[in-house]
Amino acid sequence: METNIIFRPYSSTDKSVCLGLFDANCPEFFAPNERVGYAEFLDANPFDYELCLTEDKVAGAFGLSEHGLQQKSLNWILLNPRSQRLGIGSVIMSRISAVALDSGASLINIAASHKSSPFFAKFGAIEIATIDNGWGSGMHRVDMELRL
Ligand SMILES: CC(C)(COP(=O)(O)OP(=O)(O)OC[C@H]1O[C@@H](n2cnc3c(N)ncnc32)[C@H](O)[C@@H]1OP(=O)(O)O)[C@@H](O)C(=O)NCCC(=O)NCCS
Repeated sequence: METNIIFRPYSSTDKSVCLGLFDANCPEFFAPNERVGYAEFLDANPFDYELCLTEDKVAGAFGLSEHGLQQKSLNWILLNPRSQRLGIGSVIMSRISAVALDSGASLINIAASHKSSPFFAKFGAIEIATIDNGWGSGMHRVDMELRL
């Protein structure tokens, strides 16, 4: 990954750009009905949600939240389609693993889809459950665990 990636915390003024990222990935990677849930997630101004920028433009977003004792959850990781398959997701996975380990966590929960689970599997995440059409019609839910 040659491009310089900058991370910064999400703020409420980023909502429209984040929803734009969602729209650019829908329906390929997200079911249309998931948009309401993402908007609600953003409306809560999640303090642990981050944007990643390349060349001063928002390339994507992701969050890592508390999930019980020594566990974290990866939330709403998504990149602009133009920024996919360039290694940015791998840099994000390194970042969240480091942050989780730093906080004493030993496991990251990932609620993926059948479209994204092969990506997380590359980092050692294991499928623990699948729900057909769990995210919406044609978008299957794959719950995964990444042990650190
Ligand atoms: C999933 C996502 C975050 C991955 O980020 P990325 O920057 O594209 O991934 P990278 O370029 O770092 O890819 C790392 C490896 O994973 C592979 N990969 C990336 N996305 C993949 C996918 N959806 N399915 C299978 N393999 C994938 C790459 O080809 C690469 O493989 P290699 O190491 O053999 O070359 C990004 O593609 C994305 O935003 N997708 C749409 C939204 C989405 O599905 N989010 C997940 C919601 S749970």
